[in-house]
Amino acid sequence: MPKAVRRTFVLVTTPVALAALLGAAAPASTGSPGAGDPYFPLAGNGGYHVGHYDLTLRYDTGSGRLDGKAVLTARATERLTRFDLDFTGLTVTGLTVGKAKAGFRRSGQELVVTPQRALRKGERFTVTVTYQGKPAPVTDPDGSLDGWIATDDGAFVAGEPQGAMTWFPANNHPTDKSSYDFTITVPQGRTAVANGVLFSRRTVHGRTTFRWHQSEPMAAYLATATVGKFKVEQFTTGNGIRVYNAVDAREAAASAPVLKKLPSVLEWESKLFGPYPFRAAGSIVDHAHNVGYALETQSRPVYDRAPDLSTLVHENAHQWFGDSVSLTSWKDIWLNEGFATYTEWLYAEQHGGDSAQKTFDALYAKPASDGLWEFPPGNPGSGANIFGTPVYARGAMTLHALRTAVGDRAFFLILRAWASGHRYGHGTTAQFEHLAQRVSGKDLDGLFRTWLDTPGKPNRP
Ligand code: TRP
Ligand code: ZN
Repeated sequence: MPKAVRRTFVLVTTPVALAALLGAAAPASTGSPGAGDPYFPLAGNGGYHVGHYDLTLRYDTGSGRLDGKAVLTARATERLTRFDLDFTGLTVTGLTVGKAKAGFRRSGQELVVTPQRALRKGERFTVTVTYQGKPAPVTDPDGSLDGWIATDDGAFVAGEPQGAMTWFPANNHPTDKSSYDFTITVPQGRTAVANGVLFSRRTVHGRTTFRWHQSEPMAAYLATATVGKFKVEQFTTGNGIRVYNAVDAREAAASAPVLKKLPSVLEWESKLFGPYPFRAAGSIVDHAHNVGYALETQSRPVYDRAPDLSTLVHENAHQWFGDSVSLTSWKDIWLNEGFATYTEWLYAEQHGGDSAQKTFDALYAKPASDGLWEFPPGNPGSGANIFGTPVYARGAMTLHALRTAVGDRAFFLILRAWASGHRYGHGTTAQFEHLAQRVSGKDLDGLFRTWLDTPGKPNRP
């Protein structure tokens, strides 16, 4: 819109006339309730990007009550008269856009915000939401729980794919990545562990406040604020990575020998994939066996029990594949899980265990009726299947088929180029295929179609 035209609006005095003129010049936009993901249509929101989340939380482990304040710094990508956040369960007690109170209503997981005046395209704005209540996890399409999951001494907090919205208002889709500050207050004796680097820990009147900072861009689902009675170990690696391990005493004996290997695992993965992407690393080993999974929370995976070495290798491989390089769509989940699983195979191969070929062969021997062949990993079909065996195992088999076709030199070049080329950003399956063809100089379309997209057990490569 030419500037001269806009200036004439200043002369218009009545709000109705002004709105009509603005409306005519720039169509009113209400953002959109989702980021366009076919598997999770309401996840994320259109019309803005969040650059930073500043979350202040107070969790009472006795009552399970959470008091929160979220300040989102965002930029409008279109003119907005209204926009959505994802937020479910907790009660909103206040909402401002900038300094002004804004209107809001709840509709399912959408928190619909109407600022007093429209946001201009490109405008930077803050949204402050205060909230309270007893958070509860969401049930995913596959029946698993994610989000804020209360435990006997705190909470196991993991948000893949949907659960971030159970504890803070978010643009809850991996296409939007942001930096984070966390200020978390818990009863003295409990530890609150979030992502990134611990800035401070202060105890006043029986409560301890932990301040964490995650500087590199992070998808909302990878945020955590896990609370428990933890033993803490902190050190800095030779490469300057700040390691923070928090371990529930009930898991300490079983996890100690595995956690001891974290520095060497990170170093080994750095050699394969390129530099570790974050300033901080570590582990949160909770005692939450009912959860049934671990999550690659950014810079510091969270485990529902003492992990075995393979799980530690897997979750830390996700720091490159899934965390630093994010999905654009949940349909591409094999880019996370296939890569992390194949890293387990490579680790075994290079540490005296089975070769990746042997692991591949054992899987390939499974009959066509086996669940492994239930759907192709590049097309899980729905959100209910994103953590299914084909995504993990046949996803890893896809990478092994690629390695077999292009040879080790090109294969590891491809992995490193993927990690460095999309560092802190996003990738799609199509981009990975293009990269593999470019690096190897081979036509790999048949291979990818067979392994990623064709239903049923593929013919031997
Ligand atoms: N991404 C996790 C991993 O493989 C697994 C995971 C996260 C998961 N959320 C889940 C598995 C929900 C099943 C259900 O490391
Ligand atoms: Zn995984």
